[in-house]
Amino acid sequence: MAYIVKKIISGMPYYYLRESKRIGDKVVSKNIAYFGKKKPLKREIKEKLQEINVRADAGKSRLHNLIQLKKIDSMKPDNKDKSFKSIDKPEIMLSINDMAAFCKKKGFVYPNSEIYGGYAGFFDYGHLGVELKNNIKKEFWSTFVHQREDVVGIDGTIITHPKVWKASGHVDSFTDYIYKCDKCKVVVKGDNDKGMKCPKCGGEMQNEGRFNLMFTTQVGPTKGDENKSYLRPETAQVIFTNYKLVQDSARQKLPFGIAQIGKAFRNEISPRDFLFRSREFEQFEIEFFVHPNKVNECPYLSEVENMKVQILTSQNQENNEEYIEMTINELVDKKIASQWHAYWLAQYYKFFLASGIQASHLRLREHLKGELAHYASACFDIEYKFPFGWKEIHGDADRGQFDLKQHMEFSKSNLEYYYEESKEKVIPYVAAEPSQGIDRAFLAFLYDAYNDDKERGNIILKLHPKLAPIKVGVFPLVNKLEKEAKEIFNDLKKEFVAFYDRSGSVGRRYARADEIGIPFCVTVDFESLKDESVTIRDRDTTKQIRVEIEDLKDILNKLINTEIVFEKAGKLLK
Ligand code: GAP
Repeated sequence: MAYIVKKIISGMPYYYLRESKRIGDKVVSKNIAYFGKKKPLKREIKEKLQEINVRADAGKSRLHNLIQLKKIDSMKPDNKDKSFKSIDKPEIMLSINDMAAFCKKKGFVYPNSEIYGGYAGFFDYGHLGVELKNNIKKEFWSTFVHQREDVVGIDGTIITHPKVWKASGHVDSFTDYIYKCDKCKVVVKGDNDKGMKCPKCGGEMQNEGRFNLMFTTQVGPTKGDENKSYLRPETAQVIFTNYKLVQDSARQKLPFGIAQIGKAFRNEISPRDFLFRSREFEQFEIEFFVHPNKVNECPYLSEVENMKVQILTSQNQENNEEYIEMTINELVDKKIASQWHAYWLAQYYKFFLASGIQASHLRLREHLKGELAHYASACFDIEYKFPFGWKEIHGDADRGQFDLKQHMEFSKSNLEYYYEESKEKVIPYVAAEPSQGIDRAFLAFLYDAYNDDKERGNIILKLHPKLAPIKVGVFPLVNKLEKEAKEIFNDLKKEFVAFYDRSGSVGRRYARADEIGIPFCVTVDFESLKDESVTIRDRDTTKQIRVEIEDLKDILNKLINTEIVFEKAGKLLK
């Protein structure tokens, strides 16, 4: 049986999940999880047990924990609980290690330098991973740059003038505390110097001081501080340093945004959870500049004001409450977020829903005052429900005038903006900084798509067709039809990422296609020779339609862009 234990250590309470088992005539107890100083909520206990379940190999321990899950479910509800538990059904998700194994096997992601034993915090994308990642970036860029008149893009350098990082505050403030457990030799990052318990043994850890997360490098032949430079820890700063040039050359007027996709590097103390916390990753960031007095004048707010989001406000967190549901309007009315900030949060929330993420797996979390980055006056994360808990996949800070003011001071350049309407000079205000980690989005999309279908006997990767790495599979029913099938494949591959498969039964080929998320498979059969038509099979429903070969490209395009319903795209077969 599993239960919560409170231990008082140096006058402070610490919470553990403990399990007792009868072995022979003895009852053996051990701590199976550690929750820190805050009493865990029922939901957190449930999530922890689920995590333990998916990690446990043996069916015996899985069954045991599931029984405990049911017990906790039937516990009397906490009267502070205003959660969405009804839609939050317990589900067993693939463990992060199993997801990493799946990604490696199928060619999505490999551990970097595996032949040398790997390199912690670095990953390489494989033949399917590069396609999926490029599709994710393409969708972000299309939605938030090409489809908007008030956002333009840039592509800046990874190494930039070292003074940039002094001005931005990263040299002095982009630090984590290092904690080490003398007993287990575990090294982890801490957010403050108030002490930490070892996640493994629960003992007190040693504070080893502060550590700057920026990777340093040397620019030029001689070593020494004059040539010391940094790999960028965020893409944002190159946007700030180019802000005036972009505004002038793109003839943008406030309010407007500048976007960038590119690599960022952080020397994370304890990289973990596969792609979730790595040392080299990609970001898609937008700095959205507004007039400093017009943070609450977003002309597009009405487009999203009634949209509902799940949110864990700072108040919910302080009161140890569950996340709640709110409309974007309420977020603004209750002064939790400014109009522009709420608008941008809604845009990304909507993007994830439209790209296939389940509503119950998504929530906003407001940062507590004590956890805000040095440049932010408010910040919200979009969190995804991973098997290792709710975690940030997107951050959006109100950076105010901090960065432009710092760069004005350090560079002695004038970055003011002449506001024609009021004939005054202002320093633009960053009301929202949507900062999207591409690799974390990649992981969230994979988790949401992953379905181990016991009935069909294979995995189905239900990725949105726009994101799917391969859009169409082409199969000859039998090898005799290879010439005709190859002709169709050669034509399709000019427009779509296509895959040709002739080996094994058609059923096996469908299963292989399902496992890598190919949304549509085209089969050429003997009928095709007579009536110039082929069968398209839908990955998610296995339904099939018959279409004319001459319409095939057009129909596939519409299906991928979800412009038509599958069943109505051709003659539905029984
Ligand atoms: N410019 C603001 C900024 O960089 P952040 O919250 O530190 O804010 C933004 O990072 C996003 O970058 C995160 O939401 C996450 O998606 C991604 N990210 C940050 N650190 C990461 C890491 N070590 N590995 C993978 N992605 C990371």
